[in-house]
Amino acid sequence: MNKKDFPIFEKNPWLIYFDNAATSQKPQVVIEAIKDYYERYNSNVHRGIHKLSEEATNAYEKAREKIAEFINAKPEEIVFTKNSTEALNLVAYSLRKKYKKVITTIMEHHSNFVPWQQLYDIEVLDIDGEGKLKFEKKEGDLYAITHASNVLGTINDIKAIKEEIGEKKIVVDASQSAPHLKIDVKKLDVDFLAFTGHKMLASTGVGVLYIKEGNEKEMSPFLYGGDMIEDVYVEKTIFASMPAYFEAGTPNIVEAISLGVAVDYLKSIGMDKIREHEIRITKKAMELLDELNIEYYGPKKAEERTGLVAFNIKGVHPHDVSTLLDKKGIAVRSGMHCAHPLHRRLGIPASSRASFYLYNEEKELEDFRKSLEEIKDVFRL
Ligand code: ALA
Repeated sequence: MNKKDFPIFEKNPWLIYFDNAATSQKPQVVIEAIKDYYERYNSNVHRGIHKLSEEATNAYEKAREKIAEFINAKPEEIVFTKNSTEALNLVAYSLRKKYKKVITTIMEHHSNFVPWQQLYDIEVLDIDGEGKLKFEKKEGDLYAITHASNVLGTINDIKAIKEEIGEKKIVVDASQSAPHLKIDVKKLDVDFLAFTGHKMLASTGVGVLYIKEGNEKEMSPFLYGGDMIEDVYVEKTIFASMPAYFEAGTPNIVEAISLGVAVDYLKSIGMDKIREHEIRITKKAMELLDELNIEYYGPKKAEERTGLVAFNIKGVHPHDVSTLLDKKGIAVRSGMHCAHPLHRRLGIPASSRASFYLYNEEKELEDFRKSLEEIKDVFRL
C-alpha cells in the first residue's frame, strides 16, 4: 500500500522493514515539509513579530489543529512534547501532589510504568493466558493503561474500562495504537492520552499529550520557563493558559509540523483501510508462525490486536533470529522491547518482534517464512 511514497524503499530495494513498532518510515511529503521549513521559513514561534516567525507560528499551530481533529479533541487540549515518554512523565509529575495510588498493568511499556512506579504507590493488573488484560476495579486514584501492547499486540477496551472506573481518571498510552487505529478521545472518554510522532510517519522529537479540558486545573507545571508564562514579576509568575502552560521553552517546531503532514497523509489513505490491511497481514503472519510451529504471544484473533507479532523459535536466542533475518534484509526487533515486567510474566528472557505498517506487503511474508525455515534448518530444529 503506497510503498512508492516512501523513498527509503527505493534507496534500499532489498529492505523488508518489519520494525514499525520501534519507528516508522517517512513518506516524501513529510521529508519535503521538514526541508521546506529549514529552507524557506526557519524561525522561532510565538516570539518574533516578523514574517518568518508568523509563518512558523501559523504552521506550528495548524499542526496542533490537525492533530486535535485527528483524535477528536480541541486544539487547546493538545500539548506537544518530545515523545510519549515525556508526555507520560508530564502527567505523572504534574499530578503527584494530588494523587497517591496508581493502578497500572503488567503489559505496559516502561514509559507508562516506571514514572508511576517511581512517583506513586502502584498496583499491577495481570493478563490471562492469551495475553488479554484481566481488568479489575481497584482502590486507587488513577489508572495508567496502555491502549495496545507493544509486545502482545493486545488492544485494551479503554471505553469499557472507563465505564467501570467512573469518575476515576485514566491515563492512556496510545503509542502503539494512534498510528494504526482511529482514535476518538471523546468516545474513549479518556482524561489523558499520549502518543509519539515518529511511529506514525513523522519525525522523531515530537510527542502529543491530550489533556481533557478541565484536568489541567488539577495539574502543576511540569517545566518552568519561557512561553509558559503570561507575566513574570520578581515576586511571582502568572502562568499562561493551555496549551502553552505545558510547553516551556522553544518547542519542537518542525517536528510538530511534520506530524501535521503525517496526519494528513494517514487521513488521505484512511485509518480504516490501514487497519484492514494490517489485520490481513497480521493474520497471515500468525498463520505462518503456526505452520512453522513457532510460539508467539497475545490474542489469537488478529482483530483483537495491532499489527505486530512477538515470537520465539525454541532453542534460538532472539538476537540470533534478528541477526539471521537481517542477513536476508528483514528488519525486526529482538530483546525485551522496554517491557521487562511483561517478559518476566511470560517467563521468557526475550522475544523477536515483527511489526507491520501500511507499506508492508503480503508477499514480504513469503521471504519472512523462507528465512524462518532456514533459521530452523541451521539450528537443526
Ligand atoms: N517503544 C518502541 C518499541 O516498542 C521503541 O520498540
